[in-house]
Amino acid sequence: MLVTTDEILQHAHKNMYAVGAFNFSNMENLHAIVEAAEEMKSPVILAASQSAIKYAGLECMVAMVRVAAKNSSVPMALHLDHGTDYQTLIRCIANGFTSVMIDGSHHDLQGNIDVTREIVKIAHAAGVSVEGELGRLSGVEDQISVSEKDSIYTNPAEAKTFVEATGIDSLAIAIGTAHGKYKGVPKLDFDRLVEIKKLLDMPIVLHGSSGVPLDDLKKAVSLGINKINIDTDVRQAFTDGVHEVFEAKPSEYCIRKICGKGKEHMRKVVCEKIECFGSAGKA
Ligand code: G3H
Ligand code: 13P
Ligand code: ZN
Repeated sequence: MLVTTDEILQHAHKNMYAVGAFNFSNMENLHAIVEAAEEMKSPVILAASQSAIKYAGLECMVAMVRVAAKNSSVPMALHLDHGTDYQTLIRCIANGFTSVMIDGSHHDLQGNIDVTREIVKIAHAAGVSVEGELGRLSGVEDQISVSEKDSIYTNPAEAKTFVEATGIDSLAIAIGTAHGKYKGVPKLDFDRLVEIKKLLDMPIVLHGSSGVPLDDLKKAVSLGINKINIDTDVRQAFTDGVHEVFEAKPSEYCIRKICGKGKEHMRKVVCEKIECFGSAGKA
């Protein structure tokens, strides 16, 4: 069933677990995520980036999710990931997304507050929840100096100001993760997370979570992370499945066999992440 993202995240926040937000770009990705959530009896967030929407078409993505949700008993939400384009944000709010992320993290604090507050006003009027972001995700931590860290990681006091000024429903924070593949092992600033969670009684979001050791993600969940974004790891899993098909039979041309294997690999990785996040059995 399709539910509001806020409903999913409030339950996770109150019960100290996290829900995975997995990116999808096509039907096979969507099926992999939904089948994994069903197998694990877990709520799940289906994340569509602006590029994925350009690729698959907004109406098509919404329609596929509605059908999947209608035929499923697990709670699922449809979320715009990293909304930076005003038109796309509005189209998602008006056409069936249950939440949007307004990514104003490239602005200064006041600029971020201004763009985020505007989207919150519009989204809330339509019953759509909003994720804001404060701080910037960067490279692997050992390349970041302490002063750089202070300027790009989320400042707890500013986070409180940001949340109060905007009225967002969840906050994405920067504590040492980065998008894409890591060159080394990321080091998360858990103390900063503790400080932020102490000041903010609300769902907290971790981006760039592919490649982060599962024990670190578990620890982050125990300290208050409630939504964990995974894209790279599931893309890689899907692609590994496709490679496996061609390695076994380079002349394979049946798209169902090719994409089916990709889906199978992706589903396994989604199950592993769900197990780690503590949302299994929470549907
Ligand atoms: O956090 C960003 C996601 O990985 C989206 O990537 O714009 O290539 O779909 P994409
Ligand atoms: P990864 O691709 O590093 O998992 O990041 C996903 C993400 O943050 C989507 O918003
Ligand atoms: Zn992200």
